[in-house]
Amino acid sequence: MFPVGVGVLVSGGGSNFEALVAAARRGEIPEAAFPLLISNKPGVGALDRAARLGVPARVLDPKTFPDRAAYFDAVADALEKAGVRVVCLAGFLLKVEPNFVRRFAGRILNIHPGLLPRFGGKGMYGHHVHAAVLAAGEKESGCTVHLVDDEFDHGPVLAQARVPVRPGDTADQLAARVLEQEHRLYPAALRQFLEKLDKVETL
Ligand code: GRF
Repeated sequence: MFPVGVGVLVSGGGSNFEALVAAARRGEIPEAAFPLLISNKPGVGALDRAARLGVPARVLDPKTFPDRAAYFDAVADALEKAGVRVVCLAGFLLKVEPNFVRRFAGRILNIHPGLLPRFGGKGMYGHHVHAAVLAAGEKESGCTVHLVDDEFDHGPVLAQARVPVRPGDTADQLAARVLEQEHRLYPAALRQFLEKLDKVETL
């Protein structure tokens, strides 16, 4: 079995990115290689992590492209050139455009810090999700890994993990509890996805 190139798109701290790479290096995602990380923002923590982990990284800033379609064509070009077959969105805050979804159809994964289909959609990212969960008086929350389609936080669910909401929780406390599960769930979901991908493609 030869490794599958996994490209990671980020906008921030990159702890999920590091969890994926670390799991692969521990042998928990034997099929995965990480040839390229792309950030849409300069100066973010994910870039420091990439440097430390020895993962090639680039900043592609949408402001330097005429429109979002042109931006996502450039992102897809860079990923393909690096040998990427599967894309993981890991704290990537831009909505991917249809041209990008078409080029990696059925091979884009995302992690969301809530139990989709609830608490997803436009504006529902990071702390907004945890604040909404608390405001709704939920007894549990969690995270979801799903395949990406043309709608925000939409597409077939691959895996979910649940955590309790404790009385008096702040959004920060809940975020930390969920993030711990994200770091476990994303590598496990990617591993399963890659195992199936290879079976389908070698038929
Ligand atoms: C995570 O909660 C992720 O689910 C969400 O944003 C956070 C990013 O964390 N989309 P990190 O950048 O992976 O540290």
